[in-house]
Amino acid sequence: MNKHILFGLALSLVSVTSHGADMAKGKELSTQCSVCHGKNGIAKDPESPNLAGLSALYIEKTIVDYQKGMRQDRRMSIIAQSLSMEDIKNLAAWYSAFELTVKEPSM
Ligand code: HEC
Repeated sequence: MNKHILFGLALSLVSVTSHGADMAKGKELSTQCSVCHGKNGIAKDPESPNLAGLSALYIEKTIVDYQKGMRQDRRMSIIAQSLSMEDIKNLAAWYSAFELTVKEPSM
């Protein structure tokens, strides 16, 4: 194996997840989501849910539900139409890769 192939392999391991999704592309696409869902997937807009740390499976399923009309929202139903299945997988890889820490409220 020559050096170029090794380098290429190393690069693809960095940004391509086990499901073949491309996290770097997901990050790029996420700029169109950040106005509502926050730059790091933590929403500032109280009507929008956080996306950071959701499972990739859930994100994919939900966006497909918006596309098919099984879930409806005046914003997301429109936004979902513009995304290809590849876009959805890449976005899901990006948002699911965030690690969250939680703090239980003290009582
Ligand atoms: C104009 C604001 C806006 C933008 C832009 C936007 N969203 Fe949303 N998103 C929302 C709102 C509001 C909801 C909750 C809607 C509902 O009640 O179903 C939501 C819900 C979701 C959910 C479901 C979350 C859950 O917890 O069930 C996902 C996944 C999601 N958005 C992904 C995205 C992605 C990916 C993008 C960018 C491609 C994006 N959204 C862009 C406003 C937005």
